Amino acid sequence: STNKMWGGRFEGGPAKIMEEFTPSIGFDQRLAREDIQGSRAHAKMLATQGIISREDLNAIMKGLETIEAEIKAGSFEFKRSLEDIHLNIESRLSELAGPAAGRLHTARSRNDQVATDFRLWVRAACTRADAGLTELQQALFKQAEANLTTIMPGFTHMQSAQPITFAHHCLAYVEMFGRDRLRFADAAKRLNECPLGAAALAGTPYPIDREYTAIQLGFARPMRNSLDAVSSRDFALEYLAAAAIAATHLSKLAAELVQWCSPGFGFVKLSDAFTTGSSIMPQKRNPDAAELIRGKSGRVIGDFVALAAVVKGLVLAYGTDLQEDKERVFDASDALEPSLKVMAGMFADLTVNPVRMRTLANAGYPTATDLADWLVQTLNKPFREAHHITGSIVKRAEDLGVDLDKLPLEEMQKIEPGITADVMKVLSVEASVAARMSYGGTAPDRVREQLFFWREKLK
Ligand code: ARG
Repeated sequence: STNKMWGGRFEGGPAKIMEEFTPSIGFDQRLAREDIQGSRAHAKMLATQGIISREDLNAIMKGLETIEAEIKAGSFEFKRSLEDIHLNIESRLSELAGPAAGRLHTARSRNDQVATDFRLWVRAACTRADAGLTELQQALFKQAEANLTTIMPGFTHMQSAQPITFAHHCLAYVEMFGRDRLRFADAAKRLNECPLGAAALAGTPYPIDREYTAIQLGFARPMRNSLDAVSSRDFALEYLAAAAIAATHLSKLAAELVQWCSPGFGFVKLSDAFTTGSSIMPQKRNPDAAELIRGKSGRVIGDFVALAAVVKGLVLAYGTDLQEDKERVFDASDALEPSLKVMAGMFADLTVNPVRMRTLANAGYPTATDLADWLVQTLNKPFREAHHITGSIVKRAEDLGVDLDKLPLEEMQKIEPGITADVMKVLSVEASVAARMSYGGTAPDRVREQLFFWREKLK
């Protein structure tokens, strides 16, 4: 049998395999709410402009309400034979509203319809991402607040570098997630123009009011160019790019957690609620959630790359290739949003072990830079020479198997006779941290300024 939506020009039905291959209803039913919202705005506009009658509008509105309720109740029957969400809803509407339903598609095409639905969906996804990121920032902030003077090792190349505080480390991520929020906000702002009324590609001869539908749907204005309106998906790419970047930040933080809770570090203990056991090794507390977050970041990055590959060779205007856009965005949102929630929960729940952090902060001569700085500031040595002297002192401490602040003064004086007992005051990790008072540095007095900034922002 021919398709009832476009059967006029057809004599036969689709090949069996086409019935499997072309439908998008399996995934685009997630646009149901947006599709109904778009249809309501379009119908009202048609009536206001005198393109359809008030009676038709009422019938359409009533039918859409029933459909909305059916979808909510789970009783709506999505049919593959009707391809996508747009035709599924229109077909049901014609059962409910009769010929009025057939007037709804006046001055509209599925091309501008799907572009509108999808923009509405992505706009809401940006808002959800922002909420998830904010919640995570708040969890990180709380740990920072509680750990202003908790000293931990700071690494470069995963080698002991200089001591820092856990608060400073947490706030570094608050900054990253703060920029992620700005990226989503920016994407949401730029996508907020309405494609509806572009029709198939060229506009329409009906006296429509695109300003009206745009405002009805919360868009700032109608899109200026009908070809651009139906064929551009850079808004989805921007969402995916923001999601991919946020996912890399989540992945980094997840990698830190996996490391921090390993016995070699023992910096944190994850709560039972966010840990899993092993089916064979009874002693295990595995950071599965962190690993899964790290793993899922791969999908999100992949989603961006996949959609970029779909759109890059397309000529104007609409091509069905674009049907491939939605699953990439749904997939990214399905990976990102729970990852944000789980990470926030896991971070809020974790127990810090300041003793382990302090112990490891001392290992590997992390205050060697402070010794070199003392030689510069007290003995007026050029930094390069001070660096060399300090290297020899570190070597000596290593040979004797002691930390720098436990190395006898005479040993230091054998290498540099000018060194006095005054040097001891810069060799502890506490002194090292407190000395890093430059703007953005790890000294608690400076970190307190960051806390102050974010407390206001995250209120
Ligand atoms: N299901 C389509 C999509 O996801 C809707 C638009 C279809 N338009 C068309 N002319 N085939 O993009």
